[in-house]
Order: sequence, then structure tokens, then C-alpha cells
Amino acid sequence: MSDALIAKIRARTARVGVVGLGYVGLPLVLLFEEAGFPVIGFDVDDEKAAKLGRGESYIRHIGVDRIEKAFGAKRAEATTDFGRLGECDAIIVCVPTPLGNHREPDLKYIRITAETIARLLRPGQVIVLESTTYPGTTREELLPRFESTGLRCGTDFFLGFSPEREDPGNERFNTRNIPKVVGGIDDASLRVIEELYGAAVDQVVPVSSAEVAESSKLLENIFRAVNIALVNEMKVVFDRMGINVWEVIEAAKTKPFGFMPFYPGPGLGGHCIPLDPFYLTWKAAEYGVWARFIELAGEVNTAMPRYVVDRTVDAVNAAGKSILGATVLVLGLSYKPDIDDDRESPSFELIELLQERGAVVAYCDPFIPEARRGRKHDLGLKSVPCTADEFAKYDVVLVSTPHSAFKDPSLYGRAKLVVDTRNIVPGEAGAALVRA
Ligand SMILES: NC(=O)c1ccc[n+]([C@@H]2O[C@H](COP(=O)([O-])OP(=O)(O)OC[C@H]3O[C@@H](n4cnc5c(N)ncnc54)[C@H](O)[C@@H]3O)[C@@H](O)[C@H]2O)c1
Repeated sequence: MSDALIAKIRARTARVGVVGLGYVGLPLVLLFEEAGFPVIGFDVDDEKAAKLGRGESYIRHIGVDRIEKAFGAKRAEATTDFGRLGECDAIIVCVPTPLGNHREPDLKYIRITAETIARLLRPGQVIVLESTTYPGTTREELLPRFESTGLRCGTDFFLGFSPEREDPGNERFNTRNIPKVVGGIDDASLRVIEELYGAAVDQVVPVSSAEVAESSKLLENIFRAVNIALVNEMKVVFDRMGINVWEVIEAAKTKPFGFMPFYPGPGLGGHCIPLDPFYLTWKAAEYGVWARFIELAGEVNTAMPRYVVDRTVDAVNAAGKSILGATVLVLGLSYKPDIDDDRESPSFELIELLQERGAVVAYCDPFIPEARRGRKHDLGLKSVPCTADEFAKYDVVLVSTPHSAFKDPSLYGRAKLVVDTRNIVPGEAGAALVRA
């Protein structure tokens, strides 16, 4: 069975299905289409499927030209009809893996998808999970559902995990040239999965099991979370000592070996770094192990918005004003520069904490004209213009996201007070400046 599937992959006649057409799934659809495969994208959101069908993009950094090319030529399709999963030889799952209210993994999207696939599973299919999750998910959640059909993994169908390493907005690295780690439930699955990705990406990195592949993604993200926490703690310490942490980092990073710079900020954002580490701490508890380092990093990082707000309140006080009734302009709603992704962005918490203290808050983000209603937040705000005239109207301008558009020093010339969490406003910009 694996030889027949591999032959189909080599001939580019294997149909690839991608479930979940978000930041991870949509680039994968394009990747496989561009590698010559017929592709079907599946999503529960009919708006997304309709937009793709019309050749439109809903993710800013994915250009319409690529979408038009892929979907216009009809080699790629997008649908909400999950019955068509049966047509696919390879199915790649990229559905969300959020945390529940108590920071526990919420696998409902993976489970729903696994059950849908199981209903349609047929011999000769390969299924790869790409959603970030704790080690063991592929074997414990997907495998039993698929084998309950009577089909056997490694002979009838193939199963494994391959972590996504998408970096939205990165111009150097894209889905094709980022090395792809792959792990199978068994050797036959690994062989098929290596072949599948090898047909579309420059470098495949096989590992010995699905669990190693799942864990490698967590290590990458936990590495970032812990190092960001470390540098955030350094910021708090150095602030108190009157030392500029940014200058310290610039000096330290001249060391040509053994040091990698990380930068402080107002808190963690995005779909990965704030959430994924807790997938591991949760699973570790099942084995009686406490991942204290990860929990500590979480504690330091989640305290950052409150720290920044405290520093802002102090700065307003020092300027002879009260935060009660003060007008604050928060710069940036997305969690990283020059993209329109606002998931888990610390800016929401900054705005809400300032509002709790009685400030009147507005935001400016050229990438997000209107604050969308999310699971946790509903600001009901629209972006104000990114101009010096606008910035001059507020008692405080608080830099949260380092969008390129905010790096123009002339924007701040008439601002009354600037609190900069990203070190993008030069000291000579004119305004009273606090780095927080
Ligand atoms: N965004 C990133 O940079 C990134 C990087 C690495 C890994 N990941 C991981 O990849 C996974 C997906 O993340 P994302 O950023 O693409 O999320 P996303 O929210 O952008 O996209 C998920 C998509 O899945 C759809 N969906 C939800 N339930 C579904 C279902 N039952 N069936 C089909 N589609 C469904 C949603 O409508 C949405 O379009 C997550 O596990 C995430 O942790 C994301």
C-alpha cells in the first residue's frame, strides 16, 4: 500500500487535502499546489472558502497573485464539504489548538477533525497532524480513532506528525525553504510522509517517532518563551538600577558565539509562544513531573502588561497628571510588527488595564483598522490615523507593537509623553520619553 501511495506522490497525482485554512493551512495549500499537486482546502468557515474561490486573500502577507494563480487554475479548491476528504490521498491537519480557561490543552478541534476523517478513512491514505500539541497526541488521539474503523496504521493507512514553523511576515524564510521535521507512528508512515513533504519543501528532517516531532516544536517555542522571560526579568532589574536594557543587549550581542539576543516587550503574543509551553506542562503532570522553568517563564511574561501599565501610570504622575481621565494612545494591536495577526496580543491587556485605571484609551494600527471581537476581548474601537497631529492629542503615547510605520521620529515631535516598550523612539524625537 505504501509503495502505491509513494508512486502517486512522485507522479504528483496524489490529491492533498488541508484541513484548517488559517495562517498555517493556507500557505500549505499554496505550497503543494505550486509543487504540482491537486489540493483541496477544507475549513468550517464558509467565508474563507468563498474568498479563496474568488481568488481573494484574507491573510495580508499572502498575496492575491498566489491565490489567484492556485485557485484560478482549479488545481486548488476550497470547500466546507468535508465529505470530500475521501477524495484525498494525503490529509494534513492544521486546526487550532488553544488553551481552555484553566490553561489546559483544548483538543476539541483535533478530535472533531479526527472523527470526521475516521468516518471517511479508506486504504491508501496518509494523515499528518501539524497543529502544535503535546507529545503523544497523534498516537493517543488520532491513531485509535482511525484504527477503530478496522483499518491498520502502517499497512492500510499512514499517520504522523510534522510541526509547522511558519513565521508570518518573514521575507527570508517561507514554507518551502524552512526545513520540515517529520515523524511517523511507524516506519512505513515515516517513509510516506518523508516522500510527501520531500516533494514540496527543500529539506525534510526525519525523526524516529511522531512524539519526537511533536516535542521538537514544543522545545523551539519553549526556548523562545523562556528566553523572552529572562530578558523581561532583566529589563525590570535594570530599569530599577537606571540601566538601559536595550543598550545592554546591543553590547552583549557583539559576542560572536554562545549568545543569542532576545528582546523585552509588553508581554507575549501570537498563537504559539504564550500557549504552547502549557501543553507540555499539562502533559508533564501526568508523569508526575513539574516543568517549573516553563511555569516561571509564564509567570514573568504574563506579568509584563501590568508592569508596563504601572510604569505608564508612574510616568503620567511624574508629568503632574492623574491616569484617571488621561488620554492614552496605544500604538499597535497586532502581536508582532508589520502583520495583521492580533491573536493573544498583549496590546489588548494594556488597553483594558489602562481603562480599568480610568484612562481614556484609543489605538493606532495601520494593519488593523477595526478591533475585531475575539473570544476574550471586545474593545469596540477603530484605529486612529498614524500622524503627528493625532499623536499630539494624547496625554501619553504607548508603543506596544514595533510596526515600521511607527519608527518615523517625526511622528513624536509634538507628543506630550511617550512610553516605549520596544525601543523604537529615538531619545531626540522631542517628546518626554520613558522606556518600559
Ligand atoms: N500561526 C503560526 O504562525 C503557527 C506556527 C506554528 C504552528 N501553528 C499551529 O498550527 C495550528 C493552526 O494555527 P493557525 O495559526 O493556522 O490557526 P488559524 O486560527 O489561523 O487557522 C485555523 C483554521 O482552522 C479552521 N477550523 C477550525 N475548526 C475547524 C474544523 N473543525 N475543521 C476545519 N477547519 C477548522 C478555522 O476556521 C481557521 O481557518 C495551531 O495548532 C497552531 O498552534 C501556528
